[in-house]
Amino acid sequence: MNRLTGKTAIVTGTSPNIGGGIAEGLAREGARVACVDVVADNARQCAEWIRRQGGEAAGIVCDVTDEPQVEAMVAEVGRSFGGVDVLVNNAGILGGMSVLEMPLERWQRQIGVNLTGTFLCTKHVGRLMVKQGRGGSIIVIVSTAGHQGQPGNIAYCTSKSGLLNFTRAAAMDLAAHRIRVNSLTPTATDAEEGLERAVAWGRARAERRGGLLAFKRMVPMGQLPSPRHYASAAVFLASDEAEMITGMDLRVDAGAIAKYWPWVPNP
Ligand SMILES: NC(=O)c1ccc[n+]([C@@H]2O[C@H](COP(=O)([O-])OP(=O)(O)OC[C@H]3O[C@@H](n4cnc5c(N)ncnc54)[C@H](O)[C@@H]3O)[C@@H](O)[C@H]2O)c1
Repeated sequence: MNRLTGKTAIVTGTSPNIGGGIAEGLAREGARVACVDVVADNARQCAEWIRRQGGEAAGIVCDVTDEPQVEAMVAEVGRSFGGVDVLVNNAGILGGMSVLEMPLERWQRQIGVNLTGTFLCTKHVGRLMVKQGRGGSIIVIVSTAGHQGQPGNIAYCTSKSGLLNFTRAAAMDLAAHRIRVNSLTPTATDAEEGLERAVAWGRARAERRGGLLAFKRMVPMGQLPSPRHYASAAVFLASDEAEMITGMDLRVDAGAIAKYWPWVPNP
């Protein structure tokens, strides 16, 4: 429980689902965590929850597509927490439309948050890490939709596949500074943990929405991952145990991408 003791992490997009789960997982390993979100309640409640569990955390409101806001957020974390060692680029807009339907404004916003937001946070955290001279770990949250062509999700698929090669290219730019950049690929996620986390943060329990696709039938392990599974992988990538790993994608997808496509493992 102390693999990240003494380290400071920034996690963007700290809703009670994946970002909140990753922030909690990093804090449990001893990291100080800055919970960053454009929605004030997501930043504040995530940090409060970590503090209630005995961790150290701050909630910061920031739109990751706005460069002056990103610069100010990184400077604030650096000042109040004595630097930054880990960045998890998790903020994102899910869902979408087909190439025939997608309005330009919605395309630009989704590409803006998912791709440009990750670029801006990586740029300013990267600059601070170079100045600090103590290396660092940057993690980019992708999706299995970045590895495959999903129908009706043009901007999401495009932004997430862009992030796979953003990760490799940024890893090359930063390798000489011992700043590692890796991506982490989640897939369709079991909703239960996020719903429970929201209740633990003091929110009303939301309705569980049924999906259109039979994910559990299609995924080789017969079970969908939960945010805590992504958190374990993020802790590993953030820790010194991964000190020689950079430019890699770590898939936490219960075998989804490795699967022979016509096979239905759980009929
Ligand atoms: N849920 C899934 O099944 C799934 C699967 C694969 C990948 N992912 C990826 O995991 C990440 C988190 O997904 P989630 O399911 O927890 O989604 P979510 O919608 O619960 O969380 C996304 C968070 O990003 C924040 N955000 C959006 N725009 C922002 C901006 N401009 N600046 C700062 N914060 C902003 C939102 O307020 C929200 O808190 C996303 O990158 C998503 O693409 C999710």
